[in-house]
Amino acid sequence: MKITITEPKLPTSGALAIGVLKGGVLLSTGKQLDKVAKGALSKAIKGSRFTGGKGQWLDIIAPAGIGADRVLLGGLGEAKTITRAGLENFGGSAVQRLSGSGVKTIAIACDPVKGAKVDIALGAASLAFGARLASYRFDKYRTTLKAKDRPSVTAVTVLAKGKPNVAAARKEFKSLDAIADGVFMTRDLVSEPANILYPESMAKECRTLAKLGVKVEVLGEARMAKLGMGALLGVGQGSRRESQLVVMTWQGTNAKTKPVAFVGKGVTFDTGGISLKPGPGMEMMKWDMGGAGAVIGLMKALAGRKAKANVIGVVGLVENMPDGNAQRPGDIVTSMSGQTIEILNTDAEGRLVLADALWYTQNRFKPQFMVNLATLTGAIIVALGHEHAGMFSNNDKLSEQLSDAGQEVDEKVWRMPLSDAYDKKINCAIADMKNIGGRDAGSTTAAQFLQRYVKKVPWAHLDIAGTAWADKGKPTVPKGGTGWGVRMLDRLVANHYEGK
Ligand code: BES
Ligand code: MN
Ligand code: ZN
Repeated sequence: MKITITEPKLPTSGALAIGVLKGGVLLSTGKQLDKVAKGALSKAIKGSRFTGGKGQWLDIIAPAGIGADRVLLGGLGEAKTITRAGLENFGGSAVQRLSGSGVKTIAIACDPVKGAKVDIALGAASLAFGARLASYRFDKYRTTLKAKDRPSVTAVTVLAKGKPNVAAARKEFKSLDAIADGVFMTRDLVSEPANILYPESMAKECRTLAKLGVKVEVLGEARMAKLGMGALLGVGQGSRRESQLVVMTWQGTNAKTKPVAFVGKGVTFDTGGISLKPGPGMEMMKWDMGGAGAVIGLMKALAGRKAKANVIGVVGLVENMPDGNAQRPGDIVTSMSGQTIEILNTDAEGRLVLADALWYTQNRFKPQFMVNLATLTGAIIVALGHEHAGMFSNNDKLSEQLSDAGQEVDEKVWRMPLSDAYDKKINCAIADMKNIGGRDAGSTTAAQFLQRYVKKVPWAHLDIAGTAWADKGKPTVPKGGTGWGVRMLDRLVANHYEGK
């Protein structure tokens, strides 16, 4: 889909989307159209339940006197409640509503709104960003899809008044477009099936970031064995596919600051191993690499917009399979840290992968902080559903920065507890720890396990089992792989860890 931002020129065909404030108040483009259409818009509002409330839409087809084939009125709510995220949703909804309508082009008017906190330039860029995010599709395997079943919309134009506004909006959108590229990469990775995406092919995807200036190193099993990564390697030992650890480095500034680090769980398929999962729903475990997918998409976003920050991305890539060579319940493995683990359930594998990935990252890079993402526990879905990711952290400042970034981009986190009392639950009689803590507080005992591999560095673990995939779409997030985490972590970096 082609997205452009230009000075206003009313379209002579296609759709035109305009915003309406609470109370049915038309903005400048709306007023102008209402005049040429002899009051058709105000009449349509009067004859409907549309009040301009946030998220409401009213579709007017072929209004007399107007060039566009249809005019979409979209509710913005009250002026002072307009936010960037709200405008992204507006742009996204416009695209999604018209996607299968036959309409080929959409113009979205970005009119000035008295009392709004978002200016025209940022507003126009946000509308364009939302439209782009909504246009995502994963249909590469739909080889017999007919043209009439594909989306009809091929171009979106955002209309912003004033040359300086257009220039500023285009500049802003250039960065947002790079972020969308990162989100799309994550969505693609999460959507790919496990016969196509396995540790080595996923490492190959990481290598594509080299063309953006990201340094990519791939460690195979021999290197990891030398480093003593017995926890990660144990998970992959039942798979025909070789495990991989990928280190991505984005050096966006020469400033001598310590890097920030992101670490992802990349289980390309989780059968549970010998502690085999039940059959129904097991296909979902192709997206058990969602944490790694988010880290890779984030690196793409940051490099794509040339973020002035030094960032490390590390992903542990393994496939968890039952096999004659697979790890057994009762096995004891030694992690890179030297700590030993009794494996009581081979399905609690993500924490084993992260134990070595976290240890390696903090020792090699001495980062300012580490944030890891993982589809770690089913229990976090029981606790928080799909609205928030679970956040566990040893640091209040980092937690606050993550919460705020999440609020801003509508990828929200909810902080969950850590404490010695929970930590005790993974003590073990014959090794340093066991890999499960019993039925209670399953997400927290998993987090406590990770914390045993974090030394003094500020750290946060985001359990994204409930947010990496969506069965129901939202305006800027079609159903399927969501790309959750790319936008909020990009925002975290932009807000606090980036030079000017
Ligand atoms: N990958 C799963 C967690 C998961 C479940 C992610 C559902 C997304 C949707 C993880 O490896 C796992 O199997 N966790 C177990 C832990 C248990 C064995 C302690 C779980 O949550 O049941
Ligand atoms: Mn598992
Ligand atoms: Zn898993």
